[in-house]
Amino acid sequence: MKDQKKILAAMKENFEDCYGKAETRAYWSGGRINLIGEHIDYSAGHVFPCAITLGTFALVADRKDNKTRIFSMNMADKGIIEFPMSGNKYDRAKDWANYPIGVVDVMEKAGYKAPHGFDIILFGTLPNGAGLSSSASIEVLTAVILNDTFNWNINMVEMVKMSQKAENEFVGVNCGIMDQFAVGMGKKSCAILLDCNTLEYKYAKIAMEGYSIVITNTNKKHTLSSSAYNQRRKQCENALKQLQTVKPDLKALCALTKAEFDEISNVIEDPLERMRAKHAVYENERTLEAVKALEANDLEKFGKLLNDSHISLRDDYDVTGEELDALAELAWKQEGCLGSRMTGAGFGGCTISIVRDDAIEQFKKDVLEGYKKRIGYEPSFYVANIADGTHRFKV
Ligand code: GLA
Repeated sequence: MKDQKKILAAMKENFEDCYGKAETRAYWSGGRINLIGEHIDYSAGHVFPCAITLGTFALVADRKDNKTRIFSMNMADKGIIEFPMSGNKYDRAKDWANYPIGVVDVMEKAGYKAPHGFDIILFGTLPNGAGLSSSASIEVLTAVILNDTFNWNINMVEMVKMSQKAENEFVGVNCGIMDQFAVGMGKKSCAILLDCNTLEYKYAKIAMEGYSIVITNTNKKHTLSSSAYNQRRKQCENALKQLQTVKPDLKALCALTKAEFDEISNVIEDPLERMRAKHAVYENERTLEAVKALEANDLEKFGKLLNDSHISLRDDYDVTGEELDALAELAWKQEGCLGSRMTGAGFGGCTISIVRDDAIEQFKKDVLEGYKKRIGYEPSFYVANIADGTHRFKV
């Protein structure tokens, strides 16, 4: 890849400017998109994400002492951030570096104490704040760098869980497991059907002959996503508690079928909480149906289920907002587009659309024009390839 060579050359230059000459190793960690199964990882549902070829590169050199210095070329204004390899606490002043520091801390508490620190340069190809999981990308990357350097032989699923723990307990964002799982366990050309209840998973080949996945970024700035995200989780928990009054052995919303839910949903008093729970139950079934459609090569049905997912996230879960709705609604009208929906946490960020290859240029043109007219500024487009999970690579 020509781009990759260029990126690594620029990273090497930055490395030498920051730390001087040293022998380095290179690592890669993707971002993620979720094809379907949204906002149900924390209700023990099924999700269907994949790692993508936009992500984070790292150049790493060992240090002899206990210190790590880290510099992100995307956050150059924050400078080189330093931290020790043990006894860390969340520190606001350390800004984005709390993600890698959190992973170091969780690993240390799990008995994996790093014998020394590192000098690290990061470069991300993910657009900032686009909801494509740059934080999960950096978390799993950190775990893999440590595991690889110290030969700890921790399996990827354990590293994924520790990365999620770092985000939940160190950084304080109450996310589910989906993003870290997709980033770490990604497989080229495959999406992952993950049962978030058991963490059982299987790969499903994405071979959409003549079609591609177009990612469209709303470019919306300043979303209030983390408070709204936590509020949705709370609403689902409240709904579950009320359902448990008539079904005491119910462990999670997504353990219910649609029919079972419809029969007992009236015990949920608050209509908003009832709608949130309905989304979770229906989205879980929709995801399983979508994977079946894809396996049967029924792309039209798959696309239609993506649209239904967006509508449910818009009407029942209320996490889309006018920018994502504008993108999805414009996409639905385009010739050659089989389906389109928001991906990730919502409130801003990106949609994904399944678009026929020879219709992509027109798709971009029309969606751009329509969006600009409706929202006032332009969206950005990326064609995604599906990538392998986090790993070290030879330069
Ligand atoms: C964010 C969270 C994930 C998941 C999605 C919504 O990306 O980090 O755990 O809940 O939102 O599906």
